[in-house]
Amino acid sequence: MDLSTTYLGMKLRSPIIPAASPLAEEIDNICMMEDAGAAAVILPSLFEEQLLSESNSLHHHLSYGTDSSPEALSYFPDPADLNLGPEEYLKLIQQAKVTVDIPIIASLNGDTDGGWVNYARQIENAGADALELNIYAIQTNMNLSGEEVEAEYVNIVKNVRSCTSLPLAVKLTPFFTNLGNMAKRIVEAGADALVLFNRFQQPDIDLKNLSLYPHYLPSRPFENRLPLTWIGILYKRLAVDFAAVRGLETAEDVLKMLMVGANVTMMASAIYKNGIHHIRTVEQDLARWMEENEYSSIAQMRGSMSQLNCEDPSAFERTQYIRTATTHLPVLP
Ligand SMILES: Cc1cc2nc3c(=O)[nH]c(=O)nc-3n(C[C@H](O)[C@H](O)[C@H](O)COP(=O)(O)O)c2cc1C
Repeated sequence: MDLSTTYLGMKLRSPIIPAASPLAEEIDNICMMEDAGAAAVILPSLFEEQLLSESNSLHHHLSYGTDSSPEALSYFPDPADLNLGPEEYLKLIQQAKVTVDIPIIASLNGDTDGGWVNYARQIENAGADALELNIYAIQTNMNLSGEEVEAEYVNIVKNVRSCTSLPLAVKLTPFFTNLGNMAKRIVEAGADALVLFNRFQQPDIDLKNLSLYPHYLPSRPFENRLPLTWIGILYKRLAVDFAAVRGLETAEDVLKMLMVGANVTMMASAIYKNGIHHIRTVEQDLARWMEENEYSSIAQMRGSMSQLNCEDPSAFERTQYIRTATTHLPVLP
């Protein structure tokens, strides 16, 4: 059974990769990921400004939330120990490179033009195999047009592309008026892969204390319909690799993403919930399904259910919406 795939110019042993999260801040966890069969590791984002405490409190809420298994909890250090500044981050890359054999993909969340470029160079010098740009910004400035925001995204990719020869992945939000156009411009600006999609955290209100707090909700399976739809639409229309992320937990989820055209699949919530060994379980289930259904390689199934290749291309578009919106569902008594 050939589970290998290619991503960012690298040949990977399987399509299963832990998504960027503070789990990979610990070298022991990176080793456990490799032992569990992870095809590569995405490091947590290096944040140019001090968004770190926010990110770590997110990690804390998830790690110690009711959805985590006791076994999974043992992986997690206290959030106070997790602040990785640029120097520690570069050291982590170097340490990971000498400790494990799988590719190490760094992740960067910049704030200024200079910051993106400067850190991208340093990450390359530290020996990372590739770089994922996590462009995470919630726009609250009403005077900024959509066009200006999009130009900013394209600029970041162009600037980073011009300063590093590392393979470049760009993790995008789905919130663009014309996502296909945005994806095309990001690819033209130099991205080698699109990671679809990142997930914004929204605050909740604590009614007892009347305060806002960053209550983290692990993603739910239905959320993977979004990357499934968009990878299915963009596959072969753009000369770029695709990573599917958001709401993936099982081998079935992985299979569906590969069938619409993903090169690789990524998971964060599912690994927090089930533990790092979950990677191995998904791989075994994936291989079993392929054997039972007479597939001998990932390459054989990749893109078979994309919009270009599926029997009913309208399933990805408006006609399908009308079809489902006009279907009567049974009303519960
Ligand atoms: C605790 C936690 C921390 C995360 N930190 C990062 C990060 O540093 N950089 C990033 O690009 N994504 C980060 N993510 C987002 C994940 O990489 C992923 O995109 C998102 O959780 C959706 O995948 P999932 O449905 O498998 O959880 C984080 C997610 C979690 C749960």
